[in-house]
Amino acid sequence: MRQRLLRAASKAMNNAYAPFSKFRVGAAILTSKGDIFVGCNVENSSYGMTNCAERTAIFSAVAAKGPKLEIVAVAVTNAQGVPCSPCGACRQVIYEFGPDAVVFYEGKTGPNQSHITELLPEGFRLK
Ligand code: THU
Repeated sequence: MRQRLLRAASKAMNNAYAPFSKFRVGAAILTSKGDIFVGCNVENSSYGMTNCAERTAIFSAVAAKGPKLEIVAVAVTNAQGVPCSPCGACRQVIYEFGPDAVVFYEGKTGPNQSHITELLPEGFRLK
């Protein structure tokens, strides 16, 4: 499943819109229903409007299937093969729908996997 998600993420990465950073990222999520949704980073001339690959994948899943999304796993790839774990904002968004999710990413010493709560201890919840 890890390989399948990483392959799906890499394919989505090719659709990235990253003319400013030139850093193309792809993400894939596995839902509790067994569906896979993918995303890429989408940058903007107003830099702060950029959407990361992880959030693109998660928001696409909600748009397609509704708000009961449960994320089981997330995979993140980048075109440069450098270390790239989800940014802080994406960690919080992953946590919202996947408080027990495992995240596959390129770590400092190679391919790595972490539980979302290792990446985001004390994630915020309203309920
Ligand atoms: N980026 C992602 O899409 N996901 C990450 O996990 C890290 C950063 C994107 C945002 C921006 O388009 C580019 O990478 C450089 O920060």
